[in-house]
Amino acid sequence: MEKLIIEGGRPLYGKLSVSGAKNAALPLLAATLLAPGEHILRNVPDLRDTRTILSLLGELGATWRREGATCFIDSTNIVYAEVSYDLVKTMRASVLVLGPLIARLGRAKVSLPGGCAIGERPINFHISGFEKFGVHCRLEKGYVEAVIEGRLQGASIYFDIPSVTGTENLLMAAVMAQGTTVIKNAAREPEIGNLIDMLSHMGADIEGRGSDQLTIHGVTRLHAAETDIIPDRIETGTYLIAVAAAGGEATITDCEPAHLPALLDKLKETGARIVTADRSITVSVTPEWRKRLKSVDIKTMPYPGYPTDLQAQFMALMTLSSSICVIKETIFENRFMHVAELRRMGASIRTEGNNAVVTGRGPDGLSGARVMATDLRASSSLVVAGLAASGRTEISRIYHLERGYENLVGKLSGLGARIWKERD
Ligand code: EPU
Repeated sequence: MEKLIIEGGRPLYGKLSVSGAKNAALPLLAATLLAPGEHILRNVPDLRDTRTILSLLGELGATWRREGATCFIDSTNIVYAEVSYDLVKTMRASVLVLGPLIARLGRAKVSLPGGCAIGERPINFHISGFEKFGVHCRLEKGYVEAVIEGRLQGASIYFDIPSVTGTENLLMAAVMAQGTTVIKNAAREPEIGNLIDMLSHMGADIEGRGSDQLTIHGVTRLHAAETDIIPDRIETGTYLIAVAAAGGEATITDCEPAHLPALLDKLKETGARIVTADRSITVSVTPEWRKRLKSVDIKTMPYPGYPTDLQAQFMALMTLSSSICVIKETIFENRFMHVAELRRMGASIRTEGNNAVVTGRGPDGLSGARVMATDLRASSSLVVAGLAASGRTEISRIYHLERGYENLVGKLSGLGARIWKERD
């Protein structure tokens, strides 16, 4: 196993290019199962999770090749195969093949994901949605087996809570259903817009892109298509926060500023200077500003609210602020695993239920320590903290980071960070 070493306390300067979004690439790769022919996806990040879903597509009979950031996936010959617990436990998003497999083959068998480091994360909304389409779902021995005779039937579906992968799974099932489907209180994350674009290129008829009500008029055939994956807004946000925490000035390129409305406002409130252009964001924090970094409350919400996937990183930044703030996590019930690790670096954080009260200790408030990554975004908050902390930080279990950040070490080194991997 490898660990990450950071010698922190150095401001960051330069340019950094963002990769394609992990959470868009996963549903778009799954959507290739819907139609025969060669699909072309551009800007696919090379991550542990995208490699996992590509090998899953391979197990289901698809053939694929990668040329740089472009993936060519031929899903002409899809076969019925069980998606095992071994796979789903390494990547929950494997459940995204359920919708396309049911639509294409009329049946699917996928292991139920268990709980994970950030919460229980059930998939009951996905299953009850499939049942509304007329699919018979049986839960047995840890697997969900879904079967339908004939075509799926369009349905009216309401989400109690807007679910991202739930909306994606039901969208992929609905596109070839007979009749019209209406999904109400749908999630509105930009990754869903990206999936709708791909499905539309494939011949689907979907109204309501960007809104919380999607109307899908089922079609009988879809065809292979070409689509660009949107830039990763969480990767973008992580690096913006990292520069704000360490100080300096950097331009994050190949990103989409419009996808980060809440974060950009919150960063401006801290006193960081943010300048957006067409596909880039420049953040600058001088040593003087860093001394007066303001404490800013955040509350995680479905898009366009503040993203839960940037909660841990913002908390790391707030440990360096000049006062007290409250960070409220409303999406997942256990997403404060980074708190104990940040405390080991000198942070003052108290948790009360789903609130974390952070008492900023000023720009020199963190010192390097040995810490452990517990999930993907908790790990990136430790990277943010390590870059800002004085001395050496060692982060173990970095395989979590490799699930979601392409070339993190190379990109941060390009900004002048002292960061490298070593064998643990
Ligand atoms: N929920 C249910 N039942 C369901 C589905 C969801 O109760 O059937 C609840 C969840 O427990 C949670 C809330 O609804 O409390 C929202 O969860 P959602 O379904 O939106 O999460 P997800 O689709 O499983 C995606 C991202 C996560 C991101 C969340 C929230 C992908 C592959 N994953 O998960 O990304 O945190 O949306 O934005 O898109 C990450 O990248 O680190 C990550 C965890």
